[in-house]
Amino acid sequence: MDVLTALLLLVHLIPVSAAKNGVSSKSRKRILPDPATEPPVTDPVYEALLYCNIPSVAERSMEGHAPHHFKLVSVHVFIRHGDRYPLYVIPKTKRPEIDCTLVANRKPYHPKLEAFVSHMSKGSGASFESPLNSLPLYPNHPLCEMGELTQTGVVQHLQNGQLLRDIYLKKHKLLPTDWSADQLYLETTGKSRTLQSGLALLYGFLPDFDWKKIYFRHQPSALFCSGSCYCPVRNQYLEKEQRRQYLLRLKNSQLEKTYGEMAKIVDVPTKQLRAANPIDSMLCHFCHNVSFPCTKNGCVDMEHFKVIKTHQIEDEKERREKKLYLGYSLLGAHPILNQTISRMQRATEGRKEELFALYSAHDVTLSPVLSALGLSEARFPRFAARLIFELWQDREKPSEHSVRILYNGVDVTFHTSFCQDHHKHSPKPMCPLENLVRFVKRDMFVALGGSSTNYYDACHREGF
Ligand SMILES: *[C@@H]1O[C@H](CO)[C@@H](O)[C@H](O)[C@H]1NC(C)=O
Ligand SMILES: *[C@@H]1O[C@H](CO)[C@@H](O)[C@H](O)[C@H]1NC(C)=O
Repeated sequence: MDVLTALLLLVHLIPVSAAKNGVSSKSRKRILPDPATEPPVTDPVYEALLYCNIPSVAERSMEGHAPHHFKLVSVHVFIRHGDRYPLYVIPKTKRPEIDCTLVANRKPYHPKLEAFVSHMSKGSGASFESPLNSLPLYPNHPLCEMGELTQTGVVQHLQNGQLLRDIYLKKHKLLPTDWSADQLYLETTGKSRTLQSGLALLYGFLPDFDWKKIYFRHQPSALFCSGSCYCPVRNQYLEKEQRRQYLLRLKNSQLEKTYGEMAKIVDVPTKQLRAANPIDSMLCHFCHNVSFPCTKNGCVDMEHFKVIKTHQIEDEKERREKKLYLGYSLLGAHPILNQTISRMQRATEGRKEELFALYSAHDVTLSPVLSALGLSEARFPRFAARLIFELWQDREKPSEHSVRILYNGVDVTFHTSFCQDHHKHSPKPMCPLENLVRFVKRDMFVALGGSSTNYYDACHREGF
């Protein structure tokens, strides 16, 4: 991204979110670092703005970039749902008044918004595996329900879908115009926000799709681990990681003081306030330009927000260094990566099925996958984050297949642990599929440090 685009993007971002909560835009004027591969800077407000992901015109995208003699074979898309209403309320305060109906005269807007609503109202239960068929297909409450997708969230994914349409369908002809049901693979967790995000992306990607050709599978686990979820060692890593998190929090006296102050303002015990995860609500206030809540005792303010957000950034830093989360991630991400390489391998054999796979998921889905791939510098998944695997065939050597990996439009292929520095000794601007396969089938267990070389052994390692 050039400097001008960066500044335009920045100028666009500032007034939307920060004005009401008292952030001056003066201090923000500097060049954006690469939001996918450069580690978080320690500016909590800037990090929060990236996290909001307010739809802007300057969307970066390196998807689909390949030399002419490469043919796109299949695409595997992992998304986090778009902007949502908080999952928690700050005790004894009025919850933010945000309208979750979809209307044309509210920003952010997308030209396909009304058509999306109209198309969703024609949808039928037959397109969804139970219990998805009991969920609403688009957000529709004048006061958002807890966790509900907002108009911002819908627009974010309509944009993602349209961007992927321009690249993969119009430019690379991934699907024929008369594509069939079995050429798509669609899967979502059972929350309305993930289903609706998946539908918005799909609508942007295939406008006015035929409902009879759509089938969304239901994934009960946020790790998308299907039949392979039982993994005791993974849970042990998670417990140790949670212990690390707890100890780091205890060491941060400024954070404890801040929670104490906020607890006084809302008049509940500090413990109760902390359990209500106030940063989740505060981010919603922040992203939607709604003032932080006040009581007769005072107001939650920007300084509180900065302290908690700064702690989150420090927590992520220590999380990378201590590697417990990496252990959790290698085991947690294996099943979904294993499924993805199987799907890729079938496509290399010439099968014309499941050429476009979409997994509509959560931060707790994308984050372990990023970590397992070795993308340790990648930012925590923002709203409507997208992680994409592209499979390519070299027309000059048809037996050779390669992959590209993109996070929020940035090519991170050579930041992965299985393809680091590959480009330094190969003229190809992508990674051999074999590298990814070898990593998923074996090397990811070797990376755990024990003697296990497969998922079952690694999950049941004694004396860990
Ligand atoms: C945010 O809120 C402030 C204060 O009400 C207002 O002046 C500003 O225009 C708002 N910004 C946007 C982009 O809505
Ligand atoms: C990995 O994929 C293969 C082929 O689809 C399958 O047989 C195997 O059970 C999978 N392993 C895990 C742990 O998911």
